[in-house]
Amino acid sequence: MTAQLTQPATYDQSLWAKGYRSLKEEFDYAITDIEGSIPPDLSGTLFRNGPGTLDVNGTNIHHPFDGDGMICSIAFQDGQAHFKNRHIRTAGYVAEQKAGKILYRGVFGTARPGGWAANLFDTQLKNIANTQVIYWGGKLLALWEAAEPHALNPATLETLGLDRLDNQIAPGSAFAAHPWIDPSAASTGGAPCLFNFGIQSGLSFTLKLYELDLSGKVVQEQSHPLPGFAFIHDCAITPRYALFFQNPVRFNPLPFLFGLKGAGECIAFRPNEPTRILMFPRDGKAKPITVEAQSGFVFHHANAFEEGEFVVIDSIAYADLPSVEPGTDFRDTDFSKGFPGQLWRFRINLATGTVEKQLLLDRCCEFPVVHPALVGRPYRYTYTGVAAMAGNAPLQGIAKVDVTKGETLTWLAGPNGYINEPTFIPRKGIGAGNCYTEVVGDEDDGWVLTMIYDGARDQSAIVVLDARDLTQLARLNLKHHVPFGLHGTFTPQVFA
Ligand code: CO
Repeated sequence: MTAQLTQPATYDQSLWAKGYRSLKEEFDYAITDIEGSIPPDLSGTLFRNGPGTLDVNGTNIHHPFDGDGMICSIAFQDGQAHFKNRHIRTAGYVAEQKAGKILYRGVFGTARPGGWAANLFDTQLKNIANTQVIYWGGKLLALWEAAEPHALNPATLETLGLDRLDNQIAPGSAFAAHPWIDPSAASTGGAPCLFNFGIQSGLSFTLKLYELDLSGKVVQEQSHPLPGFAFIHDCAITPRYALFFQNPVRFNPLPFLFGLKGAGECIAFRPNEPTRILMFPRDGKAKPITVEAQSGFVFHHANAFEEGEFVVIDSIAYADLPSVEPGTDFRDTDFSKGFPGQLWRFRINLATGTVEKQLLLDRCCEFPVVHPALVGRPYRYTYTGVAAMAGNAPLQGIAKVDVTKGETLTWLAGPNGYINEPTFIPRKGIGAGNCYTEVVGDEDDGWVLTMIYDGARDQSAIVVLDARDLTQLARLNLKHHVPFGLHGTFTPQVFA
């Protein structure tokens, strides 16, 4: 495989920044502006979540992570596609839209008007439901890591309200935005399960682990105290272990309590301190294992697997944490001052407790995904967003990385194209519960989808790539822009 880097090593920051504007309207239409053709056997629904509002009645929020969640669904059937988007009617969204002003503080620094006095000791945060969306157990759930899920109607995207998984999680519980579908779990007798976690914070931190069967019933639950301050966004799983990177950060709550900063602005990364890799046996029968590694800051993991005495985990790591500064506009971010995320392999020796690291992709990358039937298993390919140039830069393409050979193939969205997280959809292999449970044929027999923002046209589009060679098969032009999103999932069920 050879890299295809054919565009100039530059980008227009003002066009990139235009992708961070609210989309206030809600649409529901068949997509007719299609370049190329949609594969007729691509069937199902791609759900995506991300901030839909970047301002409240003209007042900009401080950071996109503070934006209220909006769900997009793109349903594919018989070579046709249908687009829909709805804002999630969280209590905070409804109250702020009604009041026409910001009423809540955001984790990443969005303050209520009135300066520090109005924000003093105001630790009430709103559940913005903006990070991930997943269809499981007959429910479409919008996830935000610090609170309960919101349930939505998968066909209409209408908000049904807070959902505590049929009272299986306590009021106020955190249910993280990074669940994994394990294609075959011990807790469910070999059937697929949904693995997720939640971190309850307060004076101390408690980690909860959940495994849900296909009906949505919690079949395995564990609770563990976490030492020190925990900023953990994602996890990884293997058949035997749940893995967490506890990044070396310190939290100074005083500026937050005094209303001067958002909680996310009070986190300081300690790049020279080791990361603690916490390994929890999923059956709960053995004690957790902790090893240390010099990892940098990690938000996202691509995958993990077991190999004899070793546990291997592939993650996007930053040499230093991009800090959120008060009084700045994220649209003016100087990318050259940030550190690129890079794909690293961490190989944990269970016998000695030592960790070896290896760089798999040095180009700036984020949002890695793998074949859904190989979650937690040895695998060959990951698909991830990448920058078009060296150094830290916006994500403008998709890279397919062969982690066994270190080879990379890249598709670029063009000089004014900016990408969202990719999704890999296998052509075949749907098993129990409409989950992808096996690899049929080649691991890369399927499609990679991503939503792009075309800054020159000020319009978003969905592109469908052939996963084997990243050839663009179709580009589905939407009638409007969609603000840059966070995460999404695909279900083979069609909700049109
Ligand atoms: Co994430």
